[in-house]
Amino acid sequence: MADGTSPGGGNPVVFPVRKMGFAFSEVPREWFFDSVFTSQTANALSLLFPAGERFFVRSVKHYLPRITNPTLRARVRAFFGQEGSHGHEHERTFEMLEAQGFRIREWLDWYERLAFGRLEPVMPPVMRLSITVALEHFTAALAEVALTRDYFEHAHPQMRRLLLWHSAEELEHKSVAFDVLEEVDGRYWVRMVGLAIAFVVLMGFWQSSAKMLLRQVPGFTKEQLQRERKAAKDRGQDRTALLRAIVPYLRPGFHPDRNDTDALARGYLESIGRLEG
Ligand SMILES: [Fe+2]
Ligand SMILES: [Fe+2]
Repeated sequence: MADGTSPGGGNPVVFPVRKMGFAFSEVPREWFFDSVFTSQTANALSLLFPAGERFFVRSVKHYLPRITNPTLRARVRAFFGQEGSHGHEHERTFEMLEAQGFRIREWLDWYERLAFGRLEPVMPPVMRLSITVALEHFTAALAEVALTRDYFEHAHPQMRRLLLWHSAEELEHKSVAFDVLEEVDGRYWVRMVGLAIAFVVLMGFWQSSAKMLLRQVPGFTKEQLQRERKAAKDRGQDRTALLRAIVPYLRPGFHPDRNDTDALARGYLESIGRLEG
C-alpha cells in the first residue's frame, strides 16, 4: 500500500529481525516421516534458499532509493534482515548434509552460476523484482500450509524448529516485496510474467536438487521412490499447495495481506517466546 501499511489489517507494520542459532547435530538422514523421498525433497528446497534469498534482497535493494515512505523503508530493511538470517541458518544445514555424506557443492556452484550468474543479469530490474514477489508468494503459501496443518509434526525437532520459524517470518514479511513492486511498477502483465518465470525456475531447480540428493542415497531404488512418493501424496505432501496459490495471484486486485495469516505467524512466534524479537 502506498502508505507502507498493509490492507490485511492485522499485520504489525514493522516486524523484528531474530537471531536464532539453530543446531542440527542430531538430525538423521531420514528426518521427515522416516522417508528418503520426503526428507530429500525438503532438503532440496532448503538448498535453493540462501542464494535465492540473497537474490530477493538484491532485487528489492535496487529500488530502495525510490521508496520514500518511511514505514515501507523500515519494513524493507526488516525484510533484508529476516532473509539474511534465513539464508544464514539454512546454510548451516548444508554442513549437516555434508556430514551425512552428501556431495552438494558442485550442484550449488552450478545452480548459483546459472541462476544468478547467467539468468539474473539478462532480466530487467523490474522483472527481477516481479520474480521475487512471486517467489515470496509461493514461500508464503508453503508457510501457511506448514503452520496450519502442523506439517512438520513428523519431522525431527531440530529441523521442525528451523522450518516453522522460517515459515512464521515468511508470513510476517510476505507483502513487503509486493508493496515495493506496487510502488515502482503496478502493471498487471509485469506481475504475471514474473509469476510464470518464477514458477518454471523454482520447479526446475527444485527438481534438479532433489534428483541430485536422491541419487546419492545408497540403495535407494525406483520402487522405493514410487512407494514413498505415493505415500507423500496421500498425506497431502505434494506441490498442489503451490498450484493452488497461483489462483488468487492471478486476480488483478490481488494483495498478499488480503489473506490474513497474522494470527498464524504470531501464534507460533508466541509459542516459542520470540514474538518481539
Ligand atoms: Fe526467507
Ligand atoms: Fe521471504
